[in-house]
Parts: sequence; C-alpha cells; structure tokens
Amino acid sequence: MIVFATVSTKGGVGKTTLTANLGALLADLGMRVLMIDADVQPSLTRYFPIARRAPHGLTRMITQGTIGEDCISTIALPERSPAQALNPDGRLDLIAADAPEGSLQNWLATRIDRAVRIKLALRNPQINERYDVVLIDTQGAVGHLQDAAVLASDILISPVSPDILSAREFTSGTQELLDRLEPSSALGITVPAMRAAIYRLEHTNDSRTIAKVIREKFVSLRGRVSVLSTAVPHAVAYRKAATAQVPVHWLDPSRAGSTMHALLWELIPSLDGCCAANFEPVAEAPVDAAACAGVAP
Ligand SMILES: Nc1ncnc2c1ncn2[C@@H]1O[C@H](COP(=O)(O)OP(=O)(O)O)[C@@H](O)[C@H]1O
Ligand SMILES: [Mg+2]
Repeated sequence: MIVFATVSTKGGVGKTTLTANLGALLADLGMRVLMIDADVQPSLTRYFPIARRAPHGLTRMITQGTIGEDCISTIALPERSPAQALNPDGRLDLIAADAPEGSLQNWLATRIDRAVRIKLALRNPQINERYDVVLIDTQGAVGHLQDAAVLASDILISPVSPDILSAREFTSGTQELLDRLEPSSALGITVPAMRAAIYRLEHTNDSRTIAKVIREKFVSLRGRVSVLSTAVPHAVAYRKAATAQVPVHWLDPSRAGSTMHALLWELIPSLDGCCAANFEPVAEAPVDAAACAGVAP
C-alpha cells in the first residue's frame, strides 16, 4: 500500500481535483483506492456520488486512531457506457470529512501523538490488505491535521500554479513545512519527498520559470522536492468533469486522459503503460515541464 497526500499552503490550487481524478484513474486501472478527505471543507467528499454513506468518517478515524468499517463510504461513479464504467477489479472508497471547522485541530492540539494519528490508523493490517493506494486530500493551510496527513504519507503531491509568486510561495511554504516537521525524524518518522506538479498551465514559458525557481531552491529544500515532468494544463474539462461528477479521463479521454495517465505513471512508475479502458492517447505528448526546464538535479 502506498500513501499519497496532496498538500499546499494555498487553497484553490487544484488539490481536490487532482486527488479525485488520480483516485478515479487508479480505480479504473483496477487498483483498490481509499481516499481520505482531511479538509474541513468537504470538497472531496462531495466530488463523486456516494453509493453507501458510512455513519462515520474523518472524525472517528482521528479520534479513535483506527479505521473501522463504519468510517468507509463507497463511491459509485455514474457509468454511462461500457467505455465509461469503472474497471470491475477497481474500488474507490472514501473516508468522508465530517468535522466542523477547527474541532479536529483543537482535539489534535491536546494529543501528544497528534503527528502520527493518521499514520497509525492506516497501519491497521485490514486496511493494508484491502487497499493498494491511499490518497489524502488536505486543506490549503497549516495545522495539526495537515501535519498528520503529511507524516502519514509516502509521497507528497503539491500542485503549483505557474506564476512566479506562486513558485516563491511554494518554495517558502515547503521550507517552513520541512523545518517544522523534520524534527519528527528523531521519533523515527521521516518527512516524505515532495513532487511538485505544475498545475493549470497556460503557457510553456511559465512552466520553465517555475521549474527553474524550484530547482534553484533545491538545496535549501534539502533535496526533498522535485518537479514532475507532466504539467496539468488549464482546461475547462476539469471543471466540467467536476460538475458532472465523473473523472476527467472519462469526460476527455484523449487530452485530459493523456495528462492524467502520464502524471500517474510518473508518480507510480510500476504502472507505466497501464491504461484505463477508454483511454485515447493524443498524438502529441502531454506538456513536459522537465523537457523545457530540467527538473531538480
Ligand atoms: N486543470 C484545471 N483547469 C482549470 N480549472 C481547474 C483545473 N483543476 C481544477 N480547476 C478548478 O479550480 C478550482 C479549484 O480547484 P480545487 O481542486 O478545488 O483546489 P483546492 O483543492 O486546492 O482548493 C475548482 O473550481 C476546479 O474546478
Ligand atoms: Mg480542496
């Protein structure tokens, strides 16, 4: 089981969209996926239709420190045709956000084990056997819940808008995150490496600038951050797919489908070449941020 957390210090950068679409694509490749909505604004919880809503969710998972059956909701994507039907081997489950703003942060603040609360909950052998991938969506801010999500994961994914201010904010925010969390290594918990995804790209030049800024900061970021080669373009398909509550690779199997597959193959190289049933690869490769700028050394 591999655990990803989608993080950023800013809101509205595309974390939930990315988490939901990666989750659905993974399930469509036949993987068993658990998504955790660790944002008090429950956007991931509302992203896809829920077939079976569990009586509990994030609050129970955090406060009990374990994931029981009563925390796991099941998602059912609205299947329209054989090409838009989830792979029968796949599974897409959700731990729904159900906490009023601040309540979990306050609860965690009093706990000495707050940093490992999600990590320990995921260590449950039943969860380990039941899922191949866990995706945690977080809120665009700093807090105990976000820290617990970061320290529960193997890889962090951080969408970055392709402009210089966002790039600077990304590097300073990431530096703060590392400074804050690295002392946890004394407790045997490592801060995962971060993959920055250039997100809502409109011009290739932008991606060159941002990748350069991140690369220049590579040393001060202690070699922990690298830029994914695949950049996600700004495209109306992502919003349309969210409105229709379907994965973007169903709504736009060629362009968005190519981008999402390329992104996933980079994040999980062992899936390279695995495709969803409806995949229609475009002739030209998805935008390659690395080719034009070079990723971190
Ligand atoms: N690639 C994209 N192109 C255009 N709009 C997008 C794209 N990805 C997401 N959006 C839109 O951007 C807004 C913010 O995205 P969201 O995933 O909710 O961000 P976050 O979770 O970081 O707050 C949403 O309205 C979403 O539909
Ligand atoms: Mg969000």
